[in-house]
Amino acid sequence: MTATEGVTLELDDIQSGALHERPSPYVGTYLLLRIDDRAAGRELVRRLHRFVDAGRPAPVPEQGAWLTVAFTYNGLKALGVPQVSLDSFAPEFREGMAARAAELGDVGESSPEHWEKPLGTADVHVALAFLSPDAARLEAVLEKARRAYRELAGVEPIWRQDCYQLPSGRTSFGFKDGIGQPAVEGSGRPPSNPHERPLKAGEIILGYPDETGELPPMPSPDVLGRNGTYVVFRKLHTKVAVYRRYLREKAASREEEARLGAKMVGRWQSGAPLALAPERDDAELGADPRRNNGFVYADDPRGLKCPVGAHARRANPRDAFDRDGSVDVRLHRMIRRGTSYGPMLPDGVFEDDGADRGIVFVFAGAHLKRQFEFVKTQWLNDGIFIGAPLEKDPLVGPNDGSGSFTIPERPIRRRLQNLPPFVVTRGGEYCFAPGLTAMRWLAELDS
Ligand code: HEM
Repeated sequence: MTATEGVTLELDDIQSGALHERPSPYVGTYLLLRIDDRAAGRELVRRLHRFVDAGRPAPVPEQGAWLTVAFTYNGLKALGVPQVSLDSFAPEFREGMAARAAELGDVGESSPEHWEKPLGTADVHVALAFLSPDAARLEAVLEKARRAYRELAGVEPIWRQDCYQLPSGRTSFGFKDGIGQPAVEGSGRPPSNPHERPLKAGEIILGYPDETGELPPMPSPDVLGRNGTYVVFRKLHTKVAVYRRYLREKAASREEEARLGAKMVGRWQSGAPLALAPERDDAELGADPRRNNGFVYADDPRGLKCPVGAHARRANPRDAFDRDGSVDVRLHRMIRRGTSYGPMLPDGVFEDDGADRGIVFVFAGAHLKRQFEFVKTQWLNDGIFIGAPLEKDPLVGPNDGSGSFTIPERPIRRRLQNLPPFVVTRGGEYCFAPGLTAMRWLAELDS
């Protein structure tokens, strides 16, 4: 148990994937399984329970890799969780991500009819995430897991996605990612932004008070919900060549290309935030975890340093609403765990090589609707809150070739036009990562 800032978190019962950052670099594998037989499914949960990582992660995991286990609504159903309990989960979780596609902006090329199968189908029951500092140890733990399900008739592996984190932390568009994260009371992880108090634990982990002072709605019985968290998992293909060509077309020089890219993201490729390095990239700042997230936007209300429409500023406007109090940003924070998949497009290449590459995005939080769904629909897919109703997120928004992005500048602003989509959703799922006691409860169901 950890008691800090007035809250006691049962860390040993909480899967560590939600609260603790993984050391970088790492390699990983996501596996999806289908449960055809209830008893076999429960036996799988009992076996996996032994491998799940909880508490504070060691720098190198004892068994060689960290494992996180999560279930979809259909997965809980396949395990035989009683209906009254299934009905107590968040409505969005029960519906599933594919059913929420129109809301989320997963339309056109990103719509579920084009998703990679079995993503978005009723076959996806269990999601496993394995991460390890190196491929050999990852493989050893994967083999253990394979043994756990191979001999169980009635449990089928149905999808696999390998992923990795480069030592630089950069993902396919070239930007360092995973910097802006909230701290959580009781997790023992210090804040990276001194201007942001740690979030109440109930924003991320079920069973504890959240920012409203209330306990978040929790699945019943308590033993199932407590110490669990919802997990949003999305495979996002990135059109890197299209992105590079777009910037090249709009920029007169390499320097300007880098600047326009940074304006879209809100950070330079190194991770240095525009709020602290408005003129040029600062690699030292980008690499310094004590400084690279320590900022607010108070001195830049018009976005002359960091455009109000930049991806990171939209996704976390920080102190933007402090004056008018119209929105409480703290109700819309979440933990992000993104990793790269597919080969990087080599520097200087502007033609698509046909490879599938992008990001496996993972978000953890106690409130699917007011965290992930709110940020995606209100802040990334819409521009009303920044006074630009027609503008969507320039990097990850569902643009269709007619979108624009305003870069405030003196004497006159610049506007990028005809933004194509740079990101395509290949599929995803809403999952629930239970606490360890809850996993035992699931394994011992006897209905
Ligand atoms: C392929 C799609 C995406 C890419 C390439 C991407 C890339 C990035 C990058 C480079 C950053 C800046 C580094 C950092 O602050 O950690 C960032 C920040 C962030 N992104 Fe994304 N992102 C993607 C999708 C999303 C989506 C779908 C959401 C939410 C629904 C999201 C939420 C955030 C948040 C909350 C931050 C941190 C902002 C802050 O605290 O300042 N991102 N992203």
